[in-house]
Amino acid sequence: MTGRARHRDEPRVVVVGVGRFGALHVRVWSEAGARIVGLCDLDESRLAEVAGRFGVDRADTDAALLLAKVRPDAVVVAADEAVHADLAIASLRAGCHVFVEKPLALSSDDALRVRDAAAGAGRQVVAGQISRFAALYTRLRDGVRAGRVGSLRALRLRRDFSRAWLAAFGDRVHPVWESCIHDIDLAVCLTGRPARRAVAMESTIPGSAQPAVVSALLDFDGGVVATVESAWLVPDSAPHTISGVLELAGSIVGEAEVLGTGGVLRQRLVSDALVEWTDDGIGAPDLSLWPEEDGRVGGALRREVDYAIEVFAGRRAPDRMPLEEACWGVAAAEAVVASLGSREPVRVRGCDR
Ligand SMILES: NC(=O)c1ccc[n+]([C@@H]2O[C@H](COP(=O)([O-])OP(=O)(O)OC[C@H]3O[C@@H](n4cnc5c(N)ncnc54)[C@H](O)[C@@H]3O)[C@@H](O)[C@H]2O)c1
Repeated sequence: MTGRARHRDEPRVVVVGVGRFGALHVRVWSEAGARIVGLCDLDESRLAEVAGRFGVDRADTDAALLLAKVRPDAVVVAADEAVHADLAIASLRAGCHVFVEKPLALSSDDALRVRDAAAGAGRQVVAGQISRFAALYTRLRDGVRAGRVGSLRALRLRRDFSRAWLAAFGDRVHPVWESCIHDIDLAVCLTGRPARRAVAMESTIPGSAQPAVVSALLDFDGGVVATVESAWLVPDSAPHTISGVLELAGSIVGEAEVLGTGGVLRQRLVSDALVEWTDDGIGAPDLSLWPEEDGRVGGALRREVDYAIEVFAGRRAPDRMPLEEACWGVAAAEAVVASLGSREPVRVRGCDR
């Protein structure tokens, strides 16, 4: 943001891709103490609108040119999924730390290219797997690590989205990379291991380029079986759980279950603890991902941004979202997509390449 003195520890940040989620990142990084020194988007009118809204002087449709001009400490990549890996690598080569929205990449080869570029540049990459930072998932993870379920045997992870989102953005990439990647990452986080094999099935509705339903089974080293399911079939008449600070209204409904030899933990991703019936409609707003609290965005998104700022400044180890685990998640998602294509079980490619 412009017009204020720079604090010594304030990271200088460029956001690349200022669509719905990128604009939210501009806000949250600013609120977390970053100075937004430039914005980039291919869409000139969107770029001008967001730059005006947040008072950012430097805006360019060419990320490489912008980075060369403003030399930020860090880049937030919130553009379309297909360009994440290349933008992350270009940012690393420009000497920047990188926060890259999920998915880190659309293939394990690309994920490993990012990993190698980060190692070569001596910079950090934080993948935006937001669910890890949600309080309820953190509690699940801590419960598993403390042995509260005994020996972990099974995970059941489900996340459904509004049917209308298929047409809005869901058809630009396979839903495995949009919705399932969150739960695949949670499975990696809860097991602490890469997946070994995947087998998956899908169902498509008329008029959609991508399947609306995916059911996948993954097995992990150590004998843990995970089911990951996603259906983009929640009707618009369902209570909206996503509204407010994100320029997208609709519903995410999800559940997670952790089963072990000594117990079961179960939680809902989006709680219906708060119900709002107004003349605008019926809502059960999410209070875990990016709730607005006292005029600021809190929840998992703010915790994830705070974490990235600490990692980039060298004040904490990248232990909450290690890049290696993001690569495992991409490799598992890649195997799920391959299984959907071949209709056969697929071995997950190792990331020790
Ligand atoms: N963590 C979460 O819960 C969550 C939620 C929503 C979106 N996302 C992720 O955020 C990313 C953006 O999603 P969105 O919903 O904001 O999409 P969007 O379509 O609203 O915005 C994407 C923007 O990126 C721009 N863009 C595309 N290619 C570019 C390039 N090469 N250089 C610069 N700009 C480019 C587009 O013009 C567009 O404005 C996606 O990766 C999505 O998966 C994450």
